[in-house]
Amino acid sequence: MAKKGRILSGHRPTGRLHLGHLEGTLRAWAGFQDDYECFFEIADWHALTTSFEETDQLRENIEQVAIDWLASGLDPERSVLFVQSDVKAHAELHLLLSMVTPVTWLERCPTYKEQRDQIGEAKTAGYGFLGYPVLQAADIIIYKADTVPIGKDQLPHLELTREIARRFNNFYGDVFPEPQAILSEFSVVPGTDGRKMSKSYNNTLDLADTPEEITQKMRKMFTDPKKIYKGDPGHPDQCPVFVYQGMYNKERTEPIRTACESGDLGCVDCKAEVIEKLLAAITPIMQRRRELEADRETVRDVLAQGAKQAREVAAATMEQVRAAMKVSR
Ligand code: TRP
Repeated sequence: MAKKGRILSGHRPTGRLHLGHLEGTLRAWAGFQDDYECFFEIADWHALTTSFEETDQLRENIEQVAIDWLASGLDPERSVLFVQSDVKAHAELHLLLSMVTPVTWLERCPTYKEQRDQIGEAKTAGYGFLGYPVLQAADIIIYKADTVPIGKDQLPHLELTREIARRFNNFYGDVFPEPQAILSEFSVVPGTDGRKMSKSYNNTLDLADTPEEITQKMRKMFTDPKKIYKGDPGHPDQCPVFVYQGMYNKERTEPIRTACESGDLGCVDCKAEVIEKLLAAITPIMQRRRELEADRETVRDVLAQGAKQAREVAAATMEQVRAAMKVSR
């Protein structure tokens, strides 16, 4: 069957992934595999743009992301799963694109300003960090991807990718398609404190957790702050646990709403029910994850195979790029 197009997306190797990644990103990516030709990249050079001082964990973090990807259903038979730094051609294209990218475009990028405010001058003062979106553009267009599933926060980078591709094509002839975004982060799973699940908030349920750890964390999870005693009427729409009921216990959501609002259902029982459903939903993933943890050989083979496939596609594009720019082939 002819595929609808070609997808590239990526993730920085942040270490172990959590339920927010699974529900917000990975399930969608896994679902694209039948309809699109998929390239999924672990963007280790991007991680270096701000974490250039601490590289001891980098290799392990890459493998942890790969393990979570495989456990979550990204399938090396159907997708190319690879590590950015295994495909050196991204660096060459990044360099060539940097020639046609005005610095003002990069300084104006909202993520550039936000990150400088959030993580500070020291980590974001580098030339590499300013060029982050140029490297991301190279990642995407070197595969001539037409579709890029990303979260809202990444939209400015995709817009820059399109502008850079357009500018390149204007100077040197049509080499690159202008890729479109698909917003893939629809579901935001709340963390144990009710805020968005994020490693930096220390409120995550990790795919690498044991069922016991998940249970403990869920038991401590925030609920409706106005429901203090079991008999108090609850407000499900203000309760993060109710979001979980909606995701993992769909057929029971309405009766639970009613029982919570009337005060008949207490938080302890409500949680016990959803913990069971959540564990049933993620146990196969956690199980597969444990198998892969113990079989690093397989994980490394997948990445080596992915690198090989990615390099071939990237090399073909670079032939065209060099010819178009009249630099040495
Ligand atoms: N910048 C992305 C992030 O932080 C990761 C990334 C790198 C990416 N290269 C990409 C995403 C290419 C999509 C396409 O999440």
